[in-house]
Amino acid sequence: MNIVASEKLQKMSSSIFQKVADQKQKALKNGIDVIDLSVGSPDFAPPAFVVEALAEAAMDRSKYGYTLKGIPEFNEAVSYFYKQRYDVELNPASEVIQLMGSQDGLAHLAMAVINPGDYVLVPDPGYPIYEASVTIAGGNIYPMPLLEENRFLPQLDEIPAKVLEKTKLMIISYPGNPVTALADRSFFQEVIRFAKKHEILVLHDFAYSELIFDNNPQISFMSIPGAKEVGIEFNSLSKTFNMAGCRIGYAVGNEQALAILASLKSHIDYGVFYPIQKAAITALTSDFSFLQSQVREYEKRRDALISGLSKGGWQAAKSPATMFVWAKIPSGWTSRRFAFELIDSKGVAVIPGDAFGKLGEGYVRIALVQPSKRLSEAAERIQEFLRETQV
Ligand SMILES: Cc1ncc(COP(=O)(O)O)c(C=O)c1O
Repeated sequence: MNIVASEKLQKMSSSIFQKVADQKQKALKNGIDVIDLSVGSPDFAPPAFVVEALAEAAMDRSKYGYTLKGIPEFNEAVSYFYKQRYDVELNPASEVIQLMGSQDGLAHLAMAVINPGDYVLVPDPGYPIYEASVTIAGGNIYPMPLLEENRFLPQLDEIPAKVLEKTKLMIISYPGNPVTALADRSFFQEVIRFAKKHEILVLHDFAYSELIFDNNPQISFMSIPGAKEVGIEFNSLSKTFNMAGCRIGYAVGNEQALAILASLKSHIDYGVFYPIQKAAITALTSDFSFLQSQVREYEKRRDALISGLSKGGWQAAKSPATMFVWAKIPSGWTSRRFAFELIDSKGVAVIPGDAFGKLGEGYVRIALVQPSKRLSEAAERIQEFLRETQV
């Protein structure tokens, strides 16, 4: 019997990520010391007090059942965090829902709100689940180009009226992955006006809300007047508190949209393990000094990489945020050839930009998931690579 993946699954391409993982394995087998800057999973540990809360709760044998929508204290902790960090007031009962990581919400929202044939506006380049979720839902994707000359902001007035008539959802993310740019308040205000005019639900992915560098402002979409009327924001403890493997996140904002997403989820999952919720509550209600020191560590890593690359003549842009560098590659290369030859010859693994959409061609994404020393070493290897491959 030949079991074949559905047409929808076949449309969802994960081949580039797989290819990078395969190349990495090949390099390791060949005895190369691989510096893996491909996957965006934090190498930092969560704060000790969070792990202690998790361990303590795990000892309670009465807490191993389904938790369904989660415990109310989690929603209260999210409200507290949003007030403290972004000056946003949220009703914990109606304006917060718990997710099994923000990926859970990102994967399911399109399925919950769009019908086959509806359009979803998706950034190009963008985080892959944005597009995949629309494919799963049977919707149409309209890619919004994120170009350097437009500060990586979509040009909303360039979207054709015919598309807008059928558009139900728009996905944005500032700072995002792989594009690390920040948006200002005026962009978010424009998005709100646009969404109201065309009756489009806005999804703002704010997974990197706490990895914002150089004292740039941390602007939650929800802090802009009118945002709750048109949109929801996804956030997560994965990057903020290095709890990526715990699978806990949340969505906040528009009550109706959240209720619809929660209703779909009630058919799909039975909630997050109780001890993980307790750990998340501890993290969200802490004194936040951990977040300040963590951001400084990421800044150091970014600076080590960027200054190392610039010594070799590669002036990659300094990310204003996130755990990535979105680097325009030297001319004469395609993203894939650059990334694959780099890992083969120097053992530095990065992701070719076209893994994130057509307009990612000409870039690579470098994850800051190794200590500064290792990133400096990666930069030295890349310098060698560029020297040796110069034509
Ligand atoms: C932009 C962005 N959004 C969402 C996620 C999903 O994170 P999680 O499901 O762990 O909250 C990631 C993970 O890398 C990401 O880069």
